[in-house]
Amino acid sequence: MGTGNGLEHVSKKTTKIVYGIDINDGFLKTCSHRYAKRIGSLQTRCLDIHHEYFTEDTVDLVIANLVLEFIDIERFIGQLKLVSRKGTIVSVVFQIRHDAPFISGSGVKAIERLSEYKQEVDRSFLENLLKHEGFICIKELHHMLHDGKEMVRFDFRKT
Ligand SMILES: C[S@@+](CC[C@H](N)C(=O)[O-])C[C@H]1O[C@@H](n2cnc3c(N)ncnc32)[C@H](O)[C@@H]1O
Repeated sequence: MGTGNGLEHVSKKTTKIVYGIDINDGFLKTCSHRYAKRIGSLQTRCLDIHHEYFTEDTVDLVIANLVLEFIDIERFIGQLKLVSRKGTIVSVVFQIRHDAPFISGSGVKAIERLSEYKQEVDRSFLENLLKHEGFICIKELHHMLHDGKEMVRFDFRKT
């Protein structure tokens, strides 16, 4: 979730409720400040996914952009199992370095402090775990950045 990048694209007409989950309450407050009025149905939950899961609801769409680098992938799958149902889409974005620093650009220090757990996402490990839970890949996009990093987006649907 972070501070809610991308939530400007949420349509009030088609979206019943948006849950925002993050370990950082300050980010969630900023997110609410930015988007609560616009979305109308934003609910934030401050939790550390390594110790606690969100269990209140199942959802149609899970978005995890640039989050998998900070959390245990198996904990992410555990959370996904709890909130998904047939048809649920999970959309993830992660970065591949190609020799660039793991984190670059502005805000580096802030992001470095977020979590002890930093890793490069193991694509096949992620895919295998998702397949094991009945998710099939429906979209794959790659975007090269000027600094040698690559952004990878995968969308999966639960069968
Ligand atoms: C690089 S930010 C990306 C946020 C957002 N997707 C964006 O694009 O702005 C990674 C986010 O993961 C959150 N995070 C890190 N470790 C976490 C954990 N253990 N449980 C829940 N959230 C965590 C951080 O607080 C941070 O907001």
